[in-house]
Amino acid sequence: MNKSNYSPVSEFVLLGLSTYRPVQHFLLAFSAVFYVTIVLGNLLVVFAVTFDPFLHSPMYFLLANLSFIDLCFSTLTVPKMIHNLYSGYKTISFQGCVMQIFALHVLGGSEMVLLIAMALDRYVAICKPLHYLTIMSPQMCILLLSGAWVIGLIHAVVQVAFVVHLPFCGPNEIDSFYCDLPWFIKLACTDTYRMEFMVTANSGFISMGTFFLLLISYIFILVTVWKRSSGGLSKAFSTLSAHITVVVLFFGPCIFVYVWPFPVPVDKFLAVLDFMITPILNPIIYTLRNKDMKMAMKRLSSQFLSLRMIS
Ligand SMILES: *[C@@H]1O[C@H](CO)[C@@H](O)[C@H](O)[C@H]1NC(C)=O
Repeated sequence: MNKSNYSPVSEFVLLGLSTYRPVQHFLLAFSAVFYVTIVLGNLLVVFAVTFDPFLHSPMYFLLANLSFIDLCFSTLTVPKMIHNLYSGYKTISFQGCVMQIFALHVLGGSEMVLLIAMALDRYVAICKPLHYLTIMSPQMCILLLSGAWVIGLIHAVVQVAFVVHLPFCGPNEIDSFYCDLPWFIKLACTDTYRMEFMVTANSGFISMGTFFLLLISYIFILVTVWKRSSGGLSKAFSTLSAHITVVVLFFGPCIFVYVWPFPVPVDKFLAVLDFMITPILNPIIYTLRNKDMKMAMKRLSSQFLSLRMIS
């Protein structure tokens, strides 16, 4: 590399999903509506689980934690995207970009481990119902949750440590609405082959590994239920199909973005699934389809109303 005309890049330009004005207006409206729904829906789940004693069970604690992570996950990218669409201002500082990558990988890594914990929870509840409360004890929940955050953190530190010192001197346009490793690495003015390999090996392996682990555990649960009685199958299937939908929608884009060796134009559209669609699905699936949750919402709203009458 020629060091003499090396001018370090201090900011990146996020090209966003589209540069066509009418499409941008549509995206602005679409993402604003989705983001508000994500915030309200996930906060509702967190509040319901925190304040309703009937929802104090391992499954709902894990679910509330998932909602919390989903909320943070969209908040990392969507408000920035809305702001950029609204103002036409498209830059992000170098530090901002690295911090976004770091936080995305902490949250993404934790979410993957949390989904495994939720599958474990369903396995114990369906296949070993008599031991459910002893196995999924509060200590176990805390252990699973701390495990999720620690693994997410280690994963992100390892990824970012590799790329944070890359030299940037040339083009600084990122063909997406947020910063992530595949685009970031591509812009470095050095031979990035080994970095790309590292991303595929680390993020790609984690997403694929978790995905297959989850699919296998869901199949295992279904087969166990099916062997025992055919009657329970439809109920187990309706619970698990919700989980499986989320898992496929969440991991599909991750696998595509990280395992495919080069950034391709569809990556950024697939990422919309992760930042805007799955974070909405969790509250919808668990609140609209779940009787306990619906009861909790009723109790919560009547408590809220009586509080307002008192004050
Ligand atoms: C996450 O789970 C823990 C332990 O099970 C629980 O105490 C905590 O309230 C949950 N967090 C949220 C945001 O609901």
